[in-house]
Amino acid sequence: MTEVLIDNHIDVAKVRSDFPIFANNPGLHYLDSGASSQRPSMVLEAMENYYRFHHANVHRGVYRLAEEATELYESARERIGRFIGATHPGRETIFSKNSTEALNLVANSLGRGFLRQGDKVVITKMEHHANIVPWQMLAQYIGIQVEFIDVDDEGELIIDDLERIVDGAKVVSLTLTSNVLGTVTPFTGIAQVAKAAGAIVVGDASQFVPHRQIDVKSIGADLIAFTGHKMFGPTGIGVLWGRSELLDQMPPFLGGGDMISDVRLDGFVANELPYKFEAGTPPIAEAIGLGAAVDYMNSIGMDAIESHDREISRLAYEKVKGAFGDEIKIFGPSDPSKRSGCLSFELEGVHPHDVAQVLDQNLVNVRAGHHCAKPLMRHLGVAATARASFHIYNDEADVDALVDALKETRNFFI
Ligand code: ALA
Repeated sequence: MTEVLIDNHIDVAKVRSDFPIFANNPGLHYLDSGASSQRPSMVLEAMENYYRFHHANVHRGVYRLAEEATELYESARERIGRFIGATHPGRETIFSKNSTEALNLVANSLGRGFLRQGDKVVITKMEHHANIVPWQMLAQYIGIQVEFIDVDDEGELIIDDLERIVDGAKVVSLTLTSNVLGTVTPFTGIAQVAKAAGAIVVGDASQFVPHRQIDVKSIGADLIAFTGHKMFGPTGIGVLWGRSELLDQMPPFLGGGDMISDVRLDGFVANELPYKFEAGTPPIAEAIGLGAAVDYMNSIGMDAIESHDREISRLAYEKVKGAFGDEIKIFGPSDPSKRSGCLSFELEGVHPHDVAQVLDQNLVNVRAGHHCAKPLMRHLGVAATARASFHIYNDEADVDALVDALKETRNFFI
């Protein structure tokens, strides 16, 4: 990779040269990193190096290749755990398929070991389906009660009455950054109140970890889920971090190979952490790729990544609002400092899918749809939005291309 900082600011042209997708798609304005980011060469190379030179299954063989594969896999776990500030990176960093699977692990394990009929679980109206449906499944199967923290017109959580809402809750589970609104939630403050009420606190950090430094020790969470493919890693790999004292008490989610220390005809004994939660052959190459993605982010520095996110989020809000005024409705906080990663909007009189199609004709890629957050869509009174989302390879030229393509869209349809 190239040196990508000038005076602690990201040199976007240099960053883009680390990502082959841009050389292979000239003129591309990729504004869909909230759905999935692109990958730098060093992630692709780490995965290819593993497959070409070191592939074998992990934790099973005593021969040299198997030990090399295990070493690469466990080293990735350690680096990822350190990146998020885990106290015991090797024990508390659990690999899953994605955030969705990590959150299903949490709901299923807590559902089996900790929750009973009538127990209250509090989530919010701005959650991704991955942090709603697993709890609704528990409501169906064991009769827990799911309650919601509401969202105001600015796209922020209404927490004036938080103590009452979380009173008696067994679990409080919420996003750190909304994938639709870009709202960065006051997670630590909510976690403090929830902990005081005796709840287990779960965080969905899928849209937070790609842009902001997280320190899992100090944010007040017991469990945190995030995914690799939004932070330059491959698809098929996610992470669940948890406090080891809690993880030790939680029953396993999936059963099978590697998650046991013994199996007899009359039962099994679960393995130690983290293997207790990693049944079957894990996503080895993907974990190694995510390890390389974390190395890449560390080499740039999370301070520079966060500053870039703040700057591009502000710029996008101001330029789009400035160009379209009341003709466009931008969802989420009007204070740019409260937003991260994305800009969801509705161009008056044009369906978001039509917006996305015309933008694509101008090589501007955005996502249109309900963003897997239908309760929030209903709350906003829309069926869909168009969403531009950003990362370190985006700059003002991408925002200008978005504005120009939106003008063309408006002129075409209206
Ligand atoms: N959850 C991802 C998104 O917000 C896929 O687009």
